[in-house]
Amino acid sequence: MRKKIAIIGGGNLGTAIAEGLVKSKFSKPQDIIITKRNIATLRSLKEKGVEVTDDNNAAIKKADTIILAVKPFQAAEVLNGIKKELANSKLLISVVTGVTMTEMDEVLKKTLAVFRAMPNTAIAIQESMTCICSRRADAADTNYVNSLFTTLGKVVTIDEKLMEAATILGACGTAYAMRYIRASIQGGIEIGFDAATASLIAAQTAKGAAELLLQKGTHPEQEIDKVTTPKGCTIAGLNEMEHQGFSSSLIKGIVASYKKIAKD
Ligand SMILES: NC(=O)c1ccc[n+]([C@@H]2O[C@H](COP(=O)([O-])OP(=O)(O)OC[C@H]3O[C@@H](n4cnc5c(N)ncnc54)[C@H](OP(=O)(O)O)[C@@H]3O)[C@@H](O)[C@H]2O)c1
Repeated sequence: MRKKIAIIGGGNLGTAIAEGLVKSKFSKPQDIIITKRNIATLRSLKEKGVEVTDDNNAAIKKADTIILAVKPFQAAEVLNGIKKELANSKLLISVVTGVTMTEMDEVLKKTLAVFRAMPNTAIAIQESMTCICSRRADAADTNYVNSLFTTLGKVVTIDEKLMEAATILGACGTAYAMRYIRASIQGGIEIGFDAATASLIAAQTAKGAAELLLQKGTHPEQEIDKVTTPKGCTIAGLNEMEHQGFSSSLIKGIVASYKKIAKD
């Protein structure tokens, strides 16, 4: 049973993962080791009992699972620095955007199980959508990684060729949803609410709408049908939004983001 986790790169995502694993009790604080060069910013994790170090290899030596969470441009150098310590019995999970499993294999020249995971910023509150793919992983490793990320939100297994699409829909998707909510707030203010009340109503309404789909497994149009009275105000507004290109602009935006990530 895997127990000790080393998080290499204790930035936004690395610390959010550590905090989520401790909060959900998936790991005991003393079973997590987190690294970065400037460890002063990891004080609050240290106070919770998480081991903090600037020595990647020392962290890996103690761990059986390694989560790589450095910036994409730092990944090759960091992997080169830790490859000797990465025994084949260890399990590597990379959350680094855009670095493929083949690229990792080329640097490591090892046969350890490798995972790529694409979470989003809601991982900070254990509400991430995390897309996962893997290479050489057995059933036990796969179950372990799925349960690790399930404590941090929802998980779906995908083919690696869909990782860019997962980045757009799942990770950039947070930004698209924020724009929808921001626009709702602006509309809400124009029809009479103060900003704070409009923000609460818009955010909770979006959350409730998403929960309806997640919990009931319904299609959005089924839920829309329940809100649209014939000749009513909902359908009048919805149709006007569509005349203005609402769905089309979202689809075009998603495709534009995808074309950009595919090109870069
Ligand atoms: N944020 C997200 O929501 C999100 C979602 C999906 C994927 N990702 C991916 O996750 C990765 C991390 O993103 P982030 O937002 O957490 O970036 P970040 O805040 O910049 O974190 C990266 C961390 O790596 C540390 N680091 C750099 N060189 C290191 C080394 N040699 N050894 C150990 N640590 C080192 C840096 O700290 P020092 O400079 O102190 O060493 C920094 O804290 C990126 O590849 C990103 O594409 C992020």
